[in-house]
Amino acid sequence: MRVLVAASEVVGFAKTGGLADVAGSLPRALARRGIDCRIVMPLHGVCRRTGLAKPTDKVFEVPLGNRMLPCRIWQATLPGSQVPVMMLENDDLFGRDDPEFGRSLYQFSSTDGTKRDYPDNGERFAFFCHAILLAMKAIDWWPDVLHCNDWQTGLAPVYLREIYGKHPDPAVAAAWNRIRCLFSIHNIAYQGRFASGLVETAHLDWRLYNHHQLEFHESLSFLKAGIVFADRINTVSPTYAEEIKTPWYGRGMQGLLIERSGRLCGIVNGVDYGDWDPATDHRLPARYDAMSFDAGKSICKAALREKLGLTGGDEQPVVGMVARLVEQKGFDLMSDAASGFLAQGARLAILGEGDPWIRDMLVHLSNRFPGQVGLRFGFDEDIAHLIEAGSDMYLMPSLFEPSGLNQLYSLRYGTPPVVRGTGGLADTVTDTSPETVEAGTATGFVFQPYSSEAFRDAVLRAMALWRHHPAQWRRVVKNGMLQNWSWERSAADYHRLYSAMLVAE
Ligand code: ADP
Ligand code: GLC
Repeated sequence: MRVLVAASEVVGFAKTGGLADVAGSLPRALARRGIDCRIVMPLHGVCRRTGLAKPTDKVFEVPLGNRMLPCRIWQATLPGSQVPVMMLENDDLFGRDDPEFGRSLYQFSSTDGTKRDYPDNGERFAFFCHAILLAMKAIDWWPDVLHCNDWQTGLAPVYLREIYGKHPDPAVAAAWNRIRCLFSIHNIAYQGRFASGLVETAHLDWRLYNHHQLEFHESLSFLKAGIVFADRINTVSPTYAEEIKTPWYGRGMQGLLIERSGRLCGIVNGVDYGDWDPATDHRLPARYDAMSFDAGKSICKAALREKLGLTGGDEQPVVGMVARLVEQKGFDLMSDAASGFLAQGARLAILGEGDPWIRDMLVHLSNRFPGQVGLRFGFDEDIAHLIEAGSDMYLMPSLFEPSGLNQLYSLRYGTPPVVRGTGGLADTVTDTSPETVEAGTATGFVFQPYSSEAFRDAVLRAMALWRHHPAQWRRVVKNGMLQNWSWERSAADYHRLYSAMLVAE
């Protein structure tokens, strides 16, 4: 079976969040199952700077507006695998990211510090979607399944079915139409909406711009396009697959998803334990495992305190968090909730980058609790690993969470997660109660209402167990560390889904 995974970011080359982790780890796990898997992504500036990609002599042109834009294929290999990665070069569109100047993959910092989307994101990713198909043709490699991820790839199924699948030569059209298309929704809040004029710029037929296909509230939505034109749709946890069929979570897509629910399923993300395992993690000052973790965690905790300027010692619990600083992650609960648990002596360690209001709120909090709140703004993989290892508890009070990876990392790092019971968090964390401790299933602390009181109480519950019932705490830690959320399991689910797509359609 041949599978082409298309994504706008892939860990090791370019990353802003969990999508990159998935787009790197899933292909590796698919390859281990014997699938002939390749990846296609844009050649961002940061990809070029890794020095891992080399230009090839394959060049083609992509129509955009009234121009033909050149695209060269660059070639790399996914680290730790033989999986080929095709990177599509057009520097005007994709070469602009540079953290030093506040320019990331999709956004730039304006003079007042706020993050704004690049005004030409629609053109950039229309180009990418079209180029995905032209790249297959250029290298003459035809997948059985094209696996698209998130809005940035949403027009690829449209080009596949509406342009190439309708080629005047029936043999050519049939070759394109043999390709099945899976569209994975990692986050329905990002809908890739653009002014309708993009229909023409993208060389699509106006006929498709209607309420049943590309139009979404008087704009063109790439996400909707993916949902409508793919053969199957999945999202990254079973609970989120149900949630997005309801109005609040569905963000306007719920009707369409209900209509297409026979083709929609949920597959929870996995962890790449090659990158995320405290027993082998070379980013840490000490390593540890489920059989012996006290000494290792204590060394990591001391290093974390030092790195983030936290006062105190082993006797104060450190609660950690690594996240994009966006509304989704529950930051509007943080100030009130944290005041509650910081007053009880906790230390808080946060790494993130994103919205200025969240940054300001966190700085304000750290001024109110000097020495108790350690902050690092920016993207830093070493500190992300250190927070997972050196904290006693991990926070994920998300407003919504399609899957979430950090709670899975924290389970393996012996750092029980405190989570809101939504999406993938509900599917992967078992609340601690006398019954679940007894049954050996407790792995974390789950709260339901989206309120700072509920969040604070869950953290206080965790702190009370940590302080007063160390034996029980250790059982919770160990339960989590011994769980297996490896990609092997999720890759098997994707493999089954691909196979079903090939026979069913
Ligand atoms: P999301 O994709 O919504 O951001 P996930 O939990 O799925 O959330 O994945 C987030 C990933 O991005 C994790 O691997 C996390 O460690 C990483 N991450 C997020 N922010 C940062 C940061 N500032 N520095 C380093 N890694 C980060
Ligand atoms: C999204 C979601 C996150 C998920 C990630 C990878 O960014 O917010 O929950 O884990 O995609 O699927």
